[in-house]
Amino acid sequence: MDIKSLDLFSQQFHQNPYDYYKKIRPHQPFAKVKMLNEGHSTWMAFTYKAAEAVLKDNRFIKDMRTVFPDEMTDENLPPIAQSMLFVDPPDHHRLRSLVQSGFTPKRIEKLRGRIEEIAREQAKLMSNKGTVDFINAYAFPIPIRVICELLGIPSEDQLDFQRWSNALVDINDDSEYDKVNLEFMAYLEKLTEQKRVSPGEDLMSYLIQAEEGGERLTVSELYGVIMLLIVAGHETTVNLIANGLLALLTHPEQLALLKADPFLVAQAIEELLRFNGPVEFSTDRWAKESFTFMGQQVEKGDHVIVSLASANHDPAVFVEPGTLDITREKSPHLAFGKGLHYCLGAPLARLEGEIAIRVLLEEYPDLTLAAELSELEWRQSLIIRGLKQLPVKLF
Ligand code: HEM
Repeated sequence: MDIKSLDLFSQQFHQNPYDYYKKIRPHQPFAKVKMLNEGHSTWMAFTYKAAEAVLKDNRFIKDMRTVFPDEMTDENLPPIAQSMLFVDPPDHHRLRSLVQSGFTPKRIEKLRGRIEEIAREQAKLMSNKGTVDFINAYAFPIPIRVICELLGIPSEDQLDFQRWSNALVDINDDSEYDKVNLEFMAYLEKLTEQKRVSPGEDLMSYLIQAEEGGERLTVSELYGVIMLLIVAGHETTVNLIANGLLALLTHPEQLALLKADPFLVAQAIEELLRFNGPVEFSTDRWAKESFTFMGQQVEKGDHVIVSLASANHDPAVFVEPGTLDITREKSPHLAFGKGLHYCLGAPLARLEGEIAIRVLLEEYPDLTLAAELSELEWRQSLIIRGLKQLPVKLF
């Protein structure tokens, strides 16, 4: 297959990227691809081996201020682009360690009861409706409510959060992005001021105190980490829950297996992350220097991304990768990335996914898809793999 150019924003690609990957992978483990919509070329890793190697290689760096010092500065980079996901050591370590302790599996496990309450409430809210858009009614509100509660964001502002964070992930138009970004920032400024005056027990109050405490965190970094947690904390998990349900509904024998043995749910989540996970591509990386990588000459400043979705369907690592098997054991999938930037929120995402799917099947054991597969439309995002809507019939 010729992949000199690939229209990553086409509906055709999003309908079934795995078919494309299957054809590309054997010939092009790591290849230079022209991005049709953007006009520039990018290195892309398609095999598991190449994907893992890129994510673990510190010659591929993240900070645009290091790569493009003349164009990118603290002043013109939005705060989210100065957060841990977009910087390198030593800043990365400093920023990650500030919030790391709040996201350990032990700390996250303590949220189990509250997440379960939220999932039950959302399930009950659907009880008088026969058919719903599952994303809007269930998959979205659970993670947004959890991350807002963790950060201490008032519940009445949660609808604005949906709009802002969807836009920040999906918008490809620079001026529109800037507009949404400014709105979001203005809101955060107001909330930060309130929490400075009367801090709560929440993560945002803790981060503000860290910022006030001295040199560890600048104001931009404070906004950056909050925005990152909001965007990374729900854009992804929404689609773990929704893509996961779609996979189960289109594989009735797997759904039956899970209903018969609910203890399989944690293992099922790992398989759903692998099979059709919510993060299709890694975020951007750039070559810090010129070097040969997987037999290819990479030049200093070259742009690189990793197809996590393709790596997770590599037959060199996964037996029959196109088969959904919720009893698959010890899956080394890359859905949460690898290396330095491995997902900070993985324990939280796993717990939310588990509870959301289990509660849903308990409350609505007979739910079915309320649309033809060909009618479902995928979002045109390069990073997030998610549907625009998922109509389901609840009973
Ligand atoms: C199913 C849900 C999720 C998936 C599939 C996912 C996936 C990922 C991936 C692939 C990366 C690394 C990207 C790269 O290296 O380019 C990442 C990083 C990150 N994720 Fe997640 N994520 C999920 C949920 C969450 C949640 C719930 C939170 C927090 C509340 C979160 C916070 C973060 C943060 C802060 C980073 C940056 C880590 C760093 O740079 O050191 N994620 N995530």
